[in-house]
Amino acid sequence: MSDTTIDSLYDSHIALYPDFPQDGVLFRDITPLLRDPVAFRQVMDHWCSKIPSDIDLIIGTEARGFVFGAPMAYALGIGFVPVRKAGKLPGDPRSLTYDLEYGTATVEIAEHAIGDGHRVMVVDDLLATGGTARATVDLARQYGADVAGASFLIELEGLGGRDVLDDVPVTTVWSVP
Ligand code: PRP
Ligand code: ADE
Repeated sequence: MSDTTIDSLYDSHIALYPDFPQDGVLFRDITPLLRDPVAFRQVMDHWCSKIPSDIDLIIGTEARGFVFGAPMAYALGIGFVPVRKAGKLPGDPRSLTYDLEYGTATVEIAEHAIGDGHRVMVVDDLLATGGTARATVDLARQYGADVAGASFLIELEGLGGRDVLDDVPVTTVWSVP
């Protein structure tokens, strides 16, 4: 699949909703892509081709990171670790609380989910300010993970996400202004 073909799928398969979930935010909706099996497969195959071959685990953030991260792990024949929002995991998960534009959020990874030295790739649908991905990288490192990179379907350029992830290689399918 050529890069031009993949590029052209952005306009046709990502819907834009101004002022959602709050004024001033242009929401990028991935559901048209998910609903089209041909385009979804094309995008996933293209995205998987960007993932290095020496990864042990895909780490995906609730909720949209699950939608892409789990099929990616399946396609690559490697494991998937869900990063959950607070209070969802049994046992003794590790937690990390980070700042949002307004307030804070907490992400958690189950105990024993990542082994010391595991080479992992953080996957999510969207990179905006980078706060979610930063917290995910830092939490994975608490387990001793070797974070090989972070990969996103969509990067919103100009919101500083890449700068926040300055110690992690970042790859994307689509980077948009
Ligand atoms: C969205 C998106 C990323 C995060 C990106 O998730 O799926 O995880 O925001 O924003 P950031 O780079 O500024 O941290 P959201 O928290 O809306 O949760 P959802 O996947 O459950 O909709
Ligand atoms: N998460 C953070 N910013 C977003 C946006 N503009 N569209 C969709 N998801 C988001």
